[in-house]
Amino acid sequence: MTSDQKIWFDGELVDFEAANTHFLSHSLHYGLGAFEGIRAYKTSDGRTAVFRLPEHMRRLIDSCRCATIEAPYSVPQLVEATLQVVRANQLAACYIRPLVWLGRGTIKVGGHDNIIHTAIAAWTWGAYLGDKALTEGVQCTISSFTRMGIGSHLEKAKITGQYTNSVLAKRDANMKGFDEAILLDAQGYVSEGSGENIFVVRDGIVRTPPRGASILAGLTRDSVMQLLSASGVEVREEMITRSELFMADEVFFTGTAAEITPVRAVDGRKIGAGARGPITEKAQSLYLSAVRGERAERNESWLTYV
Ligand SMILES: Cc1ncc(COP(=O)(O)O)c(C=O)c1O
Repeated sequence: MTSDQKIWFDGELVDFEAANTHFLSHSLHYGLGAFEGIRAYKTSDGRTAVFRLPEHMRRLIDSCRCATIEAPYSVPQLVEATLQVVRANQLAACYIRPLVWLGRGTIKVGGHDNIIHTAIAAWTWGAYLGDKALTEGVQCTISSFTRMGIGSHLEKAKITGQYTNSVLAKRDANMKGFDEAILLDAQGYVSEGSGENIFVVRDGIVRTPPRGASILAGLTRDSVMQLLSASGVEVREEMITRSELFMADEVFFTGTAAEITPVRAVDGRKIGAGARGPITEKAQSLYLSAVRGERAERNESWLTYV
């Protein structure tokens, strides 16, 4: 992101340098905020479309509700604000980051009456896990950090403070030389990556942990499940164990930032042939054609044109 870009901040487009928050902002201290990660793509007819924008904004409002933050803007207002940012910065394809947070007021933990801010930034962002990740795959480790439990966290919400769980797992993995962490839940079942949902493939059947597990209900996960099912691939929502990861023919991540990224090794064990497998490649190509608007007959409702 460059400093000449505009950021939508509490209802207006402001200069990059003006999009600031005070040191005494409540969320900075205690981590109560909500955010989203969204992408816009250049479509094959030369336009730009944001992928599943209203659903992302609905999840943002849902996250605010979970966090007891009264979201200042509605889904349609947030959709319009996003389009404004993308247009103002003349971005053909970009990553979009909305954030709702508690600003000044009290610094007491409750922070009930603090001012609520909303901002949206957008910038050009390539492959999240590195340029080669999408074709060659990434090397992962199973984290010693347990994915936050459903009894102590709100696992379907993108609440900022909850992400220390992901950040610690990610940093730990990177410090050990891995690209990404895979977190297990409190019972030891495979949960997800630090910022991605996870899928395993064996004998042509695709499996991913169910919605009821301690996972974020990823919109990419949902898109890929729909796309693969429609193309005749069997997709199941089932709990997955660590041994099933090691025995898989293919493992891949899904996420707005990571898109569909193959996992080529877990804790030094090669997954399948140690390269992107055919079903992962199929999922990538189906997803790419959906975000580019090439599957209009089914997925036009997934695109909001800028
Ligand atoms: C922890 C976690 N899991 C999964 C995902 C994937 O969700 P989505 O596909 O909606 O981006 C994300 C990214 O938002 C995430 O942060």
